[in-house]
Amino acid sequence: MRLSNYFLPVLKETPADAEIVSHQLMLRAGMIRQQSAGIYSWLPLGHKVLKKIEQIVREEQDRAGAIEMLMPTIQSADLWRESGRYDDYGLEMLRITDRRKREMLFGPTNEEMITEIFRSYCRSYKDVPKLLYHIQWKFRDEIRPRFGIMRGREFLMKDTYSFDLDEDAARKSYNRMFVAYLNTFSRLGLKSVPMRADTGPIGGDLSHEFIVLAETGESEVFCHSDLVDMDVPGSDVDFSGDLQPLVDQRTALYAATEEMHDSAEFAKVPEGKRLSARGIEVGHIFNFGTKYSDPMKAVVTHPDGKDRPVHMGSYGVGVSRLLGAIIEAHHDEKGCIWPESVAPFGAGVINLRAGDAATDAACDNAYATLCDAGLEPLYDDTGNRPGAKFASADLIGLPYQLIIGPRGLKEGKIEVRVRRSGEVHELSVEDAVARLAERSFSNG
Ligand SMILES: Nc1ncnc2c1ncn2[C@@H]1O[C@H](COP(=O)(O)OP(=O)(O)O)[C@@H](O)[C@H]1O
Ligand SMILES: [Mg+2]
Repeated sequence: MRLSNYFLPVLKETPADAEIVSHQLMLRAGMIRQQSAGIYSWLPLGHKVLKKIEQIVREEQDRAGAIEMLMPTIQSADLWRESGRYDDYGLEMLRITDRRKREMLFGPTNEEMITEIFRSYCRSYKDVPKLLYHIQWKFRDEIRPRFGIMRGREFLMKDTYSFDLDEDAARKSYNRMFVAYLNTFSRLGLKSVPMRADTGPIGGDLSHEFIVLAETGESEVFCHSDLVDMDVPGSDVDFSGDLQPLVDQRTALYAATEEMHDSAEFAKVPEGKRLSARGIEVGHIFNFGTKYSDPMKAVVTHPDGKDRPVHMGSYGVGVSRLLGAIIEAHHDEKGCIWPESVAPFGAGVINLRAGDAATDAACDNAYATLCDAGLEPLYDDTGNRPGAKFASADLIGLPYQLIIGPRGLKEGKIEVRVRRSGEVHELSVEDAVARLAERSFSNG
């Protein structure tokens, strides 16, 4: 992408109303624009990162055996009357009336809808287990939307739903998602800790929140510090095998959010390992048995010929919130420092004298080679001052910056700056481009 053709409205000043660094940087880097309280447009740069996060979440769901589909944002009130949640959900639900005076709502979550779909097609023990998911916008009329997209009213969620014959089988689905979440957040450059959590309005008895530790997090959390640096199961884990030991290893140590905190239990953690901190909830998994299948009559016939309600669970990831969490974890005073897995551009080419024939030619060349190598470079071909170019390259977090100017070129040299470490390498154009194309620089 050539910057002169792109849409990147960066701001010099930090907007006064943005309290936390991720919100400030997202506004300054031209990633989002607020349209109403808690409702945002995703400008091209923000959209690019959002899509990369979404794709990693998707790949890890697929790997764990979940099947993607897509349900609508607008749902009918009648569906929610069946579960009894239409009245319970309260003011957080955005209620809509259509032209025929039918009561509709903008979905805050999809348990009812997926249960309706399941019961329409699946009747037998042969139809389970099933894990179905979608990645879709949700709306919750939060009392206090804040911190930008961290607590929005409209937000993107990945929600998976599991259907199993009985409690034991449901536990296996729960474990699949538990492990998939550890892998997902790790690929996004985040250290997440699963913590025992309250089940809230979704209900049920087994629930974990996945928390990324950050000073600006909304939740107060307490855990054994060994959980923070524990290795993740990794991509070669066998999802059809027994995942219980992996889950047990992480649930044996103390970890709880404020609502579930038990100070007597926490006191048993060795003093030097007691961590009380703040965190961002990036995922939440629930096993709720027959809470929905019972009232909504989603039953399956067991091998003994009897019909029983199917056992269910639901598993959410805050896809849009993750963008904020990633920035909270990876930034410095100059701007974003993306983990490579989600960087909006793989590299930048900075032309220090646009209009100078030799510099333009070297930049065009480097840009073309990086494009061919699949690096998705951003080429700053504008007439802006070098200082402004460097500042926005750092602000938007270009992981490798190829800096090309007439003075260096005369000696056959250009600079490669590594955003994370700040390292600068002086190289010939050919070497610099070749090393970037081979991805042989270390990003620290
Ligand atoms: N208002 C919001 N803005 C952004 N992300 C949200 C919001 N509410 C929930 N999420 C994300 O969706 C995930 C699943 O939501 P859920 O646990 O059902 O919501 P809650 O924790 O509010 O009860 C959460 O873990 C969080 O990452
Ligand atoms: Mg939650």
